[in-house]
Amino acid sequence: MSTAALILAAGEGKRMKSVKPKVAHEMFGKPLVRWVVDAAVKAGCEDLVCVLGHGREQVEPLVEDTTVVIQEEQLGTGHAVMCAREALAGKTGSLVVLSGDAPLIRPETIRTLVSMREQQQAACVVLTMRPPDPSGYGRIIRNAKGELVSILEHKDCSPRQLENDECNSGIYCFDIEVLFKQLDNLSNENAQGEYYLTDVIRFCKNVDRLVLSYPCDDYTEALGINTRAQLAQVTKIMQMRINTKHMDEGVTMLDPALVWIGPDVKIGRDTSILPMSFIYGETRIGQGSTIGPNSRLTDCVVGRDCNIEETVVIQTKIDNEVTCGPRAYLRPGTHMCDKSKAGTHVEIKKSVIGPGSKVPHLSYIGDAKLGADVNIGAGTITCNYDGEKKWNTSIGDGAFIGSDTMLVAPVTVGEGAVVGAGSTITKDVPARALGIERSVQKNVEGWAERKKK
Ligand code: UD1
Ligand code: CA
Repeated sequence: MSTAALILAAGEGKRMKSVKPKVAHEMFGKPLVRWVVDAAVKAGCEDLVCVLGHGREQVEPLVEDTTVVIQEEQLGTGHAVMCAREALAGKTGSLVVLSGDAPLIRPETIRTLVSMREQQQAACVVLTMRPPDPSGYGRIIRNAKGELVSILEHKDCSPRQLENDECNSGIYCFDIEVLFKQLDNLSNENAQGEYYLTDVIRFCKNVDRLVLSYPCDDYTEALGINTRAQLAQVTKIMQMRINTKHMDEGVTMLDPALVWIGPDVKIGRDTSILPMSFIYGETRIGQGSTIGPNSRLTDCVVGRDCNIEETVVIQTKIDNEVTCGPRAYLRPGTHMCDKSKAGTHVEIKKSVIGPGSKVPHLSYIGDAKLGADVNIGAGTITCNYDGEKKWNTSIGDGAFIGSDTMLVAPVTVGEGAVVGAGSTITKDVPARALGIERSVQKNVEGWAERKKK
């Protein structure tokens, strides 16, 4: 029996004041709705259905791996579920209902709801919570035996009922057949004139089916986002969740509040992440490295014992014991081999910097392949672009490039060759030769004194 998940994401999110629908806004570079879909997938849900409405052309590409159904008019959460009736026809077993704007839900929590429902053959398990401020949430109503009998929306509660702070998280696991049968009984005669999914709880009780609740220890899992301020709050919570996990696994952070790490990043033990560092995408970092302060890494592989200070690194492979920065910019397709260096104000694009090779100061290296133990003098530039095409530069093992050299590509400097400082190299330099291009210096004796007079 497979488990299905239904993600409600048709709402507009007016209070975001955005041209983008709410669920397309991002937390750590990942759209909100994607966080929810990913949590469902990690929890083992196989059939995924998203209910979209507002801005659906922007949301659909974000949830391509799910079945999309459209709710033209947002008539309430119960109505949104009804829209998925056909997409889920013939299914039996569990259906998890999630909100596309509540991205902090944990896969483990979803799994608990599903196994509770299955073990006890319940019609529904409701995830409940006691948030510090319960206003706005539907309230859990229990009978004298303490059983959950219904959920009353805030606007439909009496002042007495509002004193109860046990709230509906909006996350449930239903027996899919019971759910779709009971949905037929919904009406919109309530304070908001909406079809409430929460009314199904009462109907299940009426037909003597078991309804259970599972109290969530961490109410933040159900926090929904309606405003930009809430987006920031929720991002902060996720930031601390991610950073705490890395610290638990042996990563040092001087100040975790100033470190932003995406959900798919992996970091080895004894690596230290210093403040104002952003590590995103599929980045992997080995052991004993130091990242930051002020560094941004996206989709990089970094080895062990590296030091990456004040550096922006994108789609780059960095092997072991490499030093970068301060103020280097490593662009896609770069490979820094063992013990290589990209120093201050150095930009490297789509180049291999061989083992032990150094580019210490003020250089641009693009479309180049450097062998081992090459030294690049300050201010060296590979002139890789002729205005139409990009050309390659190749520098052999142990070559020494003097400061302020222009290497006009395509060009090759052979193994062990030396290039004199200030040269504009347009022809290949053979192995072990000196390549020098420089006009002869003239000294005019006494010139400075004569000029003063
Ligand atoms: C809902 C619950 C409430 C619970 C709260 C938790 C109902 C009636 N109430 O309230 O008990 O405490 O969640 O956050 O269910 N949506 C649609 N189509 C619609 C309406 C909503 O797709 O027609 C989507 C929204 O985009 C959102 C989710 O369903 O992602 C929840 O809707 P929302 O309006 O936030 O529900 P609440 O009224 O806050
Ligand atoms: Ca809500």
